[in-house]
Amino acid sequence: MTNFPEQIREWYFQHGRKLPWRETKDPYKIWISEIILQQTRVDQGMEYFHRFIKAFPNVKSLAKASETKLMQLWQGLGYYSRARNLQYAAQTIVNEHNATIPQTYKKIKTLKGIGPYTAAAIASFAYNLPHAVVDGNVYRVLSRIYAKDIPIDSSEGEKFFSSLANELLDKKDPATHNQAIMDLGALVCKPAKPLCGHCPVNLLCAAFATGTQQNYPVKGKRITRKIRHLNFLVFIRNEQIVIEKRSGNDIWKGLFQFPVFESTEPFTTALIKTHLKTKTQLSVEVTKLLEKKHLLTHQELHAVFFRVEFTSAKDFREWFNTTSYETIALNRLNKIPFPQLIKKNLKKLLPPCEY
Ligand code: ADE
Repeated sequence: MTNFPEQIREWYFQHGRKLPWRETKDPYKIWISEIILQQTRVDQGMEYFHRFIKAFPNVKSLAKASETKLMQLWQGLGYYSRARNLQYAAQTIVNEHNATIPQTYKKIKTLKGIGPYTAAAIASFAYNLPHAVVDGNVYRVLSRIYAKDIPIDSSEGEKFFSSLANELLDKKDPATHNQAIMDLGALVCKPAKPLCGHCPVNLLCAAFATGTQQNYPVKGKRITRKIRHLNFLVFIRNEQIVIEKRSGNDIWKGLFQFPVFESTEPFTTALIKTHLKTKTQLSVEVTKLLEKKHLLTHQELHAVFFRVEFTSAKDFREWFNTTSYETIALNRLNKIPFPQLIKKNLKKLLPPCEY
C-alpha cells in the first residue's frame, strides 16, 4: 500500500474542496469548524462557521460570551452540550494556557469536548503534527480498501483503524494527507453509491476488486432509544405567547420552550384538560395542533403541541402570576433560542408573523 498517500495527495490537489477552514492555520478557527462539522454537513456548516467566527473571533471572546448568544448561534445544530463544552474549553485555555490553544496532541485532548478525532484534526491542520484523523469517512475508505470486517464501533475496531490510519499517514505533510482522505470519503468513497470509477486508489481496493463495497464498514451495536412523550402547551393571547427557559441538566439546557408536561404514555386533549384543571382550578379549552417525532442519538421524542385557552383573560393572568413562565410578544420569537423541534414547527403552530 506504499503509494496510497501519494495517490490520494495527487487526487486532492486536483479535486479537493476549497473550504474556509482549510485556508487558515488558526487553531481556534479549525477547532470551531471541526465541532460544527460533527453536527452538520459541509454546505450548511459553512454558514454556521462564518456566523460563529464573526460573533466570537477568538478564544477570549468565546470564553466570555453570554449563554443566550451562544445558544442562538448554535440553534439548529443540536447537541447543545457541544457549544457549552466549546465555551468551557475556551475558558480553560484563557485561564490555564494564557489564551493560546495548546500545541501538542496530548494537551489539546485534555480540553473539554475534544476527543481523539478533534485533537488529531487541530494538531495536524494547525501545527502539521503527525496524527491521523479517523472520522466516518476514514473508517469507510480504509475498511473498503482492506475489506476489513472488524466492527468500527468496537474498541478493537477503533484501535485497528486508528493504528492503520497512522501507519499510512504521510508524515511529511499530515495536514494535506488528512484533508485528502476525508475528502476522498466524502466525494468519492460515498456510503451509498461510491464512485469507484473516479477513485485514485481503486486498484488498491480489496472491496472494489470483489464488488463488496456495500459490505463495509461493518457496524456492531444497534442503538436502543428511550421513548419520551413531550406535551407542549401553546398559550397565546393578544399577540403574546408563553415560554420558559429549560433548567434541567439535559441536551436542551438553557434553551427556551413552551410549557411542557412530560409523560410516559401519549396524552390526549382530554387528559391535558384534566391535568390543567387539577393544577390551576381553572377552566380551559384545549385543541391538538400538531404531532411530531424527533430522533436523537439515544432518544425518540414524541412531541404533541396543544393550543390552550383559558376561558377568561383574568384566569390567564391569575395562573401566570403563580408560575415561572414568561410571556413574550410573538414578533420577538426569532430572538429566542429554541430546540430545533420547536423552531422548525413555529410557522405551523402560530398565526402568520415574522419568526
Ligand atoms: N468534516 C470534518 N472535518 C472536515 C474538514 N476539515 N473538511 C471537510 N469536511 C470535514
